[in-house]
Amino acid sequence: MKKLSQPTVMLRDLETVAQLEDAIRLEREVWKFGDSDLTPLTLAVATRAAGSLWIGAYDGPELVGFAFAFPSLERGRTGFHSHTLAVHSRLRDRGIGYELKLEQRKRALALGIKEMTWTFDPLRGRNAHLNFSKLGVISASYREQFYGSETSSPLHRNGTDRLWVTWHMAEPAVEERLKGKQTRAAVLDVLRDAESLVRCQGDGTPLEQNLSQLHKGRRIGIEIPGDIEHIEQEDTALAERWRLATRRAFNEALAAGFVVTEFCRSIRGQPGPGAYLLEQPGHEDDKQPLRQ
Ligand SMILES: CC(C)(COP(=O)(O)OP(=O)(O)OC[C@H]1O[C@@H](n2cnc3c(N)ncnc32)[C@H](O)[C@@H]1OP(=O)(O)O)[C@@H](O)C(=O)NCCC(=O)NCCS
Repeated sequence: MKKLSQPTVMLRDLETVAQLEDAIRLEREVWKFGDSDLTPLTLAVATRAAGSLWIGAYDGPELVGFAFAFPSLERGRTGFHSHTLAVHSRLRDRGIGYELKLEQRKRALALGIKEMTWTFDPLRGRNAHLNFSKLGVISASYREQFYGSETSSPLHRNGTDRLWVTWHMAEPAVEERLKGKQTRAAVLDVLRDAESLVRCQGDGTPLEQNLSQLHKGRRIGIEIPGDIEHIEQEDTALAERWRLATRRAFNEALAAGFVVTEFCRSIRGQPGPGAYLLEQPGHEDDKQPLRQ
C-alpha cells in the first residue's frame, strides 16, 4: 500500500468484486454515463483475472480514484493500454491522478513492459498538462470520434475526438521529467518563435492557418482555450468551432510528420490559453531537439 502526498489517500489494488463495483460506481459518478456506456462488472472481473492493472486510490474506506489498464498489442508491441483514469471531483488537482499513473508505470516496468498508451480529449487543458508536462508522453495520432459521435456522458457532448498518446516509460527523457526536470521555460521560448496552426484570439475564438501559410519551421503550435468545460456549457457553437479547428490542425500537422511533444498551460502569462508544441523529427534545422 502506498501513501501519497495527499496525506489521507493510499493506493492499493482493486481485487474483489465489491472493490471493482466501487470503481464502476466512481466511473458513473465522474462521467455520468448511462448503463450502456459503463464498464460491465463481468468484464472488469475478467480483465483483472487476465493480468490487467486495477489500482485504487482510497481516502480511508472510500474509493476516490482509480486507474485501469489492460495488456495491449498495438502495432505488435506488447504494452498496456490505460483505458480509465478517474479522480473524484472533490479531490482533483492534488496529485492523485499523477500518483496513479506513477503506480501504473511501476507495475508495468516490473513486468518488463516499457510502453503504455491511452487517449484523451486534446481540448482539456488539465489532461494535457498532466499527460505532456508532468508525465512526458508524446503523440503522433489523432482519432476522430474515437468512441462514436456521442455517448451518454456530458464530458462527451462535444464529440469524442482523442489524441492517442504513448508513454515511453523507461526512456531517460521521461525519467528526467518524473524527477521534476522543468521544461516550461524552454518550451515557452520555443513557442514564442513558433507559428501556430490555431491561435486563441482575444475574444476567445480560434484563428486558423494552414501549414502552407506558415514559414517552414520544424516547430509549430496549436493553442486551446483555458476552460473548454465552461465553453461547452455556455456556448456549444463556439465549443464545436474549437473542436473542428483543432481537429483540422492536428490532422494536417501529424500527416506532415509532426509529433506532439509538449504542452504549456499558460502561454501569455495567464491561466489559458494553453498551447501544444509539435516538432518534426529529423528536420534539417534539427540542431537542438527539445525531445529526442
Ligand atoms: C484527469 C484526472 C484523472 C486528473 O486527476 P487529478 O488528480 O486532478 O490530477 P493531478 O492533480 O495529478 O494533475 C492535474 C494537473 O492539472 C492542473 N490543472 C488543473 N486544471 C487545469 C487546466 N484547466 N489547465 C491546465 N492544467 C490544469 C493541476 O494544477 C495539476 O497540475 P500541477 O500538479 O502541476 O499543479 C481528473 O481530472 C478526472 O478524473 N477527470 C475526469 C475524467 C478524465 O478526464 N479522465 C482521463 C481520461 S480517461
